Amino acid sequence: MERVDLIIDTDPGADDVVALLLALASPQELNILALTTVAGNVRLDKTSRNARLAREWAGREDVPVYAGASRPLMRTPIYAEDIHGKEGLSGVSVYEPKAALAEGNAVAYLIDTLMSASPHSITIAMLGPQTNLALALMQQPAIIQGIKEVVIMGGAHFNGGNITPVAEFNLFADPHAAEVVLNSGMKLTYLSLDATHKILTSDERLKQIAALNNQASRLVGDILNDYIKADMEHYDIPGGPVHDAAVIAWLLKPQLFSGRAVNVVIDSREGPTFGQTIVDWHDRLKAPKNAFWVDSGDAQGFFNLLTERLGRLK
Ligand code: BDR
Ligand code: CA
Repeated sequence: MERVDLIIDTDPGADDVVALLLALASPQELNILALTTVAGNVRLDKTSRNARLAREWAGREDVPVYAGASRPLMRTPIYAEDIHGKEGLSGVSVYEPKAALAEGNAVAYLIDTLMSASPHSITIAMLGPQTNLALALMQQPAIIQGIKEVVIMGGAHFNGGNITPVAEFNLFADPHAAEVVLNSGMKLTYLSLDATHKILTSDERLKQIAALNNQASRLVGDILNDYIKADMEHYDIPGGPVHDAAVIAWLLKPQLFSGRAVNVVIDSREGPTFGQTIVDWHDRLKAPKNAFWVDSGDAQGFFNLLTERLGRLK
């Protein structure tokens, strides 16, 4: 495959860290230009530290980390400490990483990089609330010239929501930002809960990772064993999803997934459907298809890919 020039926008977050390790372990396919961080699962200082920890664990301090928005565009901030732990990283001890943040704000970095990039050359992976990219688009709409496509973990249709009955966390945490990105007209792919809730851990799959017995596999095992508990209990399912890692797997091996081009609308009105993604799966409205909606994935294929890549780390 052609090497992807990639910026990963993220709010680590347990599953974000697994996604980052998967991406950072795949330099042949992914040329990671930077990680940009946003407040989401926990506060910005913690997501920024956790992104730097992921970079350190992957031995990839060459990748800069820029901190971005510390709060959503308009709504009151919400966090997911109940799922990811107080430090935003369940199952492992956190500490101050050796390498510091890059100087400058993530939003300014996005604008500068995308304005000077070759036309439609950079892919953006969005693993958290979409505040940074929305701010960049609002400040300089011409940045879309540099963007090839945006791949988003977010939204829910068939599955129902995970933060309200209908809303998925990343969209609920900043629906106004997600609307700005959706209305930009860029090529968008949504890895929704419909897909991520079909790609669940199992004892076998966790054993497969543990058998690598390197630092990365121990970290991922410790993180996942803790992180999956809440979803397993809540949904009464035999394993837990690793949401954000599906975005990276999609970039590496899209043949593991299926979906269709749809029209999506995001509800940002106050009320019970705040943050909901309304997906016209059966094309009732004949409205323009503004996103590719991934609703399904090959779970064993995903865990084989993750295991193989973690095996490349120390
Ligand atoms: C999303 O919400 C966050 O808690 C996870 O990191 C993931 O990005 C799943 O709904
Ligand atoms: Ca996330």
